[in-house]
Amino acid sequence: MALPHGIVHVEELPVEGKRVFVRVDLNVPLTGSAKDRQIGDDSRIVAVLPTIRHLVERGARIVLGSHLGRPDGQVKPELSLEPVAARLAELLGSEVILADEPAGDGARKVVGDLRDGQIALLENLRFHPGEEANDTDFARQLASYCDTYVNDAFGTAHRAHASTAGMVRHVGHKGAGFVMAKEIDVLSRLLGDVDRPYLAVVGGAKVSDKIEVLDALLDRVNAIAIGGAMANTFLTAQGKQLGKSRVETDKLAMARNFLRKASEKNVAVHLPTDVVIASGLDAEDARAVSIDAVPADQMALDIGPVTIETYRTTVTRARTVFWNGPMGVFEKPRFAAGTIAVACAMADNRLALTVVGGGDSAAAVVQAGVADRVTHVSTGGGASLEFIQGLELPGIAALASR
Ligand code: 3PG
Repeated sequence: MALPHGIVHVEELPVEGKRVFVRVDLNVPLTGSAKDRQIGDDSRIVAVLPTIRHLVERGARIVLGSHLGRPDGQVKPELSLEPVAARLAELLGSEVILADEPAGDGARKVVGDLRDGQIALLENLRFHPGEEANDTDFARQLASYCDTYVNDAFGTAHRAHASTAGMVRHVGHKGAGFVMAKEIDVLSRLLGDVDRPYLAVVGGAKVSDKIEVLDALLDRVNAIAIGGAMANTFLTAQGKQLGKSRVETDKLAMARNFLRKASEKNVAVHLPTDVVIASGLDAEDARAVSIDAVPADQMALDIGPVTIETYRTTVTRARTVFWNGPMGVFEKPRFAAGTIAVACAMADNRLALTVVGGGDSAAAVVQAGVADRVTHVSTGGGASLEFIQGLELPGIAALASR
């Protein structure tokens, strides 16, 4: 496995009998009421088990740190890591001691009492304002809980926070966990000499959220297939009438500019030629129509069957595919066909390097039951997008710096 120069794999770190702080990304979707929170998808918890098990086997004293949601530096009981600690303990089959604060006397005591092979989880790091502010005192406090630092939170590597960046320089030994190392290894391949054709499938709601990544992809890929509500903005920019579909009317110039650059760089841009429309998200009247026949009172909510076939063929012919963002409102079964079709086409292409950028697309490959048939499903949404743009991620840079 190739790690950038200067980054040490957790397997190479001295951890026996040491206190090891592991930054994990246990920012999982929660369901249920504020008093009875359930974990919607435990993929991110499952993902960090190899690093934790490795450290347990080596007799480390493990201090886990994570954020959950965006409590903005305040203690919000509904964003407590309690249900996460319980699920983690269940998966590991061993005790996980939850400190009731991210830092302070209570946390220090929990960490100080750890014996070899035991695991503690600090309470939501973002309950403390110092985490997102990357405050030096808070960073030093976290660093004082350990002898060795491991970052296994690829999903948060694009944030320069106390636990991902600030504390690292205050710890003697540092390295990447199994999740982080695999993410760096696979995603780096997308930045190098890839097998071609290289296709990016990009979806989601807004052009404005993805324009940087779309622009960066123009220098790397041969084709981009666009879906989701952001396709509406591109189609409107081309003069199509899309009824009451969601369109970013203030981004039409941005969309036109992108299409012009793509044509100058010889990158094929595929846009839907038909869509599934309905009068509303919960309406029963869904049907597929040509992109030229969207009635004024209807909205596009998924790519249509003709587009699905085109995208499927394009995915099948590619030898490298990166996908981020759903093709439609896939949480609603009647608008999920496009997204599921992309997931299945990627899984069926056994000749290509197929990478799913986290977030909704990762949820979709799980929903389609094909997560184990693509090359890699990233645990990071924003982080994987920044990585494939070739940007430096502070959480990775901190591991490499001396
Ligand atoms: C994510 O879910 O993308 C990461 O956990 C980062 O969360 P954030 O966007 O709240 O920083």
